[in-house]
Amino acid sequence: MPPSDGEHGPLRVGVLASGTGTNLQALLDTVHGEEALVVGVASDRPAAEALERARAAGIETGVFERSDYEDRSARDAAIAAWMAERDAELIVLAGYMAILTSAFLSRFAGAVVNVHPSLLPAFPGIRAIEQALDYGVKIFGVTVHFVEDDGGVDTGPVILQRGVELPHATSAEDVHMQLRPIEHALLPEAVRLVARGAVTRDPHNPRRMVIAR
Ligand code: GRF
Repeated sequence: MPPSDGEHGPLRVGVLASGTGTNLQALLDTVHGEEALVVGVASDRPAAEALERARAAGIETGVFERSDYEDRSARDAAIAAWMAERDAELIVLAGYMAILTSAFLSRFAGAVVNVHPSLLPAFPGIRAIEQALDYGVKIFGVTVHFVEDDGGVDTGPVILQRGVELPHATSAEDVHMQLRPIEHALLPEAVRLVARGAVTRDPHNPRRMVIAR
């Protein structure tokens, strides 16, 4: 976990995003310049709207397209080096659609968080909301979790979760609309807690993150 104590300035955060970047925007509008400083935004997609949002906020951007590298590891090593150059202490995956390899995760061990639109461990991976609808669940939700180099997808320890009852939902778009404000609250809250050093591991259960409030 990134260091945090009274002496420590704002937590330096690097963001990876592939899409519209509304979760990045939530970070920029809340914790950025307060407990945290977004020091760089990188994407696997040059057209990602998230990059525009970063530029508008005066934040450095980097584009790392898979086709520019020999393999995923080479690309991930380049992203890790780019984040390290900016002294990023915490990496936030805000709608980053590529799976990170060990080349990245080993460099930022215990310091990568992701926001996922389901109540994990239910419905990991892509199309989480569609999976939940297909299953017929009545409670949807959002998870913010650490990403670990464990070979799984969306399998790292949970930091925060919040559910919402939507017993009549049939449309993934409608569910996503309901989940967005939850994501936009939960992700900055998780970053704030990490910045304050309020997230620690239960020594009796390494899966369980203890949140000091
Ligand atoms: C969010 O729904 C997030 O949970 C998922 O990807 C989406 C990203 O949205 N991992 P945005 O790019 O932050 O708007």
